[in-house]
Amino acid sequence: MLLSKPKTSVEHDCNVNREHILQLTEEEHSRLRMVLEDLPSINVHAWEDELITEAELRSKHIPDHLAKLLIQFRKHSNDDGMLLIRNLPIDHHLPPTPDGGGVSLEKTSYISEYTLLAIMLYLGEPIAYEDEKNGMLIQNICPVRGKEEAQENTGSTYLEFHTEDAFHPYRPDFIGLLCLRPDHDRIAATAAASIRRALSMLPGKTQELLRQPLYRIRLSSSFTSDTVFSQQLPVLGGDVLEPNLSVDFYGMEALTASAQLALKSLEKALLKVAIAHKLVTGDLMIVDNRVAAHARTAFPPRYDGQDRWLQRLFVVHDFRRSRASRPRGSHICIPLSIEFSSMDLKAQST
Ligand SMILES: [Fe+2]
Repeated sequence: MLLSKPKTSVEHDCNVNREHILQLTEEEHSRLRMVLEDLPSINVHAWEDELITEAELRSKHIPDHLAKLLIQFRKHSNDDGMLLIRNLPIDHHLPPTPDGGGVSLEKTSYISEYTLLAIMLYLGEPIAYEDEKNGMLIQNICPVRGKEEAQENTGSTYLEFHTEDAFHPYRPDFIGLLCLRPDHDRIAATAAASIRRALSMLPGKTQELLRQPLYRIRLSSSFTSDTVFSQQLPVLGGDVLEPNLSVDFYGMEALTASAQLALKSLEKALLKVAIAHKLVTGDLMIVDNRVAAHARTAFPPRYDGQDRWLQRLFVVHDFRRSRASRPRGSHICIPLSIEFSSMDLKAQST
């Protein structure tokens, strides 16, 4: 099924092969819950590094076939740039979905947080940004009243394909999206579109243009309320056959007409190869942020405490690279305004 350019909708369960899906058995699910359930309480506002280490030690007890899949994904990614792991444990009692998209004060058990952490630690070191969601390491992704049209995690309109935080010098390498509660109507689909699958649809001249720094990205409104653009960037980089992708079809501008045409061709190709899944409770979608762009279809929130609720965690392969941007022992990067001035990367305000 073709994933059409959908300001209004994205089809789901299209282009699905099963290679990127792994479903835990009931026995594996129960065993993983047991491994994680006696870990200590978490201060979700300020994660202690020691707890992250403890979670990593526990993560050694996940089923071997899951560990192997994650290790392979870390080293080589896959052609879809995405994994879907199903039937993971989350908390027995799930409080109402937080209505402001912030912390849930009523969530007093932490199985979902530890599940997300244990899996994602196979892929890298957790990272977050002081600018976004108050620097929460594990973030609640829920629809927020009044933000329906926002092209960010608080919205509920169609969220266009994008690389996560493509404008950020320490953007995530992998994004984990764990579903705690699906939307009421079970229609919201999360999609990933891989450059490895789309590349052969792009003529050589188009690829050449996409490799030039002829693009800039408007910083996400979840980072700044001002209109601020990144430096000029290429969309494709690295290996010729397996390039890295850095794109944002909402926030990106091309600086020439031919660069704009190339961007349109890329969008068309990515929409053709996109894979979408409607996440249900216990599903974890992991996107390789260097290989695939991701999107989400629209859904109608009800703001009744039972709306869609995901938890999100970012990890990076090279934690050391962001050292100067993080206080000692912290996983949270300083605001971009400070980062840009300290790196002498002048963001261009308009
Ligand atoms: Fe995103």
